[in-house]
Amino acid sequence: GLPEYVKIVEVGPRDGLQNEKVIVPTDIKIEFINQLSQTGLSVIEVTSFVSSRWVPQMADHTEVMKGIHQYPGVRYPVLTPNLQGFHRAVAAGATEISVFGAASESFSKKNINCSIEESMEKFEEVVKSARHMNIPARGYVSCTLGCPYEGNITPQKVTEVSKRLYGMGCYEISLGDTIGVGTPGSMKRMLESVMKEVPPSALAVHCHDTYGQALANILTALQMGVNVVDSAVSGLGGCPYAKGASGNVATEDLIYMLNGLGLNTTERRRHRI
Ligand code: HMG
Ligand code: MG
Repeated sequence: GLPEYVKIVEVGPRDGLQNEKVIVPTDIKIEFINQLSQTGLSVIEVTSFVSSRWVPQMADHTEVMKGIHQYPGVRYPVLTPNLQGFHRAVAAGATEISVFGAASESFSKKNINCSIEESMEKFEEVVKSARHMNIPARGYVSCTLGCPYEGNITPQKVTEVSKRLYGMGCYEISLGDTIGVGTPGSMKRMLESVMKEVPPSALAVHCHDTYGQALANILTALQMGVNVVDSAVSGLGGCPYAKGASGNVATEDLIYMLNGLGLNTTERRRHRI
């Protein structure tokens, strides 16, 4: 059966804007996030504390974090790849963070300049520091249904990385179809494997829509007990290190489907992590 409640994680201001060719002015980003906050969304990913040499669009992370109005009942996580990013995020007022790894060695190297093993060591430090400060940490796994450099990725590899992130204390593991090559078939096989090590209640799916499969993949995940879905308003999104990948599933299309299924997306807004 389907879950009664589905939590939506809006990633437009981060995943959406990180890939825009034109640098979006900081005040526009702040206004964008403030408007999203008033829609009923309960989680809005704000920005990334990454290197501005690597991702120039996110260079204003501190100004954006400090500039937004934090509405009650809305959570504002940010991406932090290492301790340096984590400390900057905390200094800017972040109270939730995400580390982001991959199930592909090549993608890990291109995206965060280190191997999967090295990334896990960095994430352990970040998650440990976060836990000391009572800051919830989420873990992303990229390339769970395919990699722009390696092609096929095995469910076993995704499971291994997911288990590691969950084991180190990430409360939620977001499984990214970074380049949107998955289908309901590959989503099902991947989730069956991951669910042997991480409970469905701690999983999220993060689907890009390159081949128009995102909603079908999400429905498959919901039917298997996942009840957290990442999306970006108007289907913004893409990764600078995943050429050809199109946007995330559009938040409005996701909500349209969830409403059609009679699923609640807002009720537990104030009560759920
Ligand atoms: P690096 O060059 O290996 O870092 O980058 P380093 O530790 O060797 O340090 C080199 C320089 O970077 C130093 O500066 C550090 O201070 C600086 P220098 O001494 O040369 O002047 N540095 C930093 N600066 C700012 N913030 C930091 C930071 N860390 C070091 N946190 C790093 C490693 C991870 C920083 C780099 O590779 C990077 O920023 N990558 C960007 C990755 C990124 O943002 N990708 C997009 C998000 S992931 C995604 O989109 C997928 C997702 O949506 C899910 C899906 O769809 O699959 C989440
Ligand atoms: Mg993404």
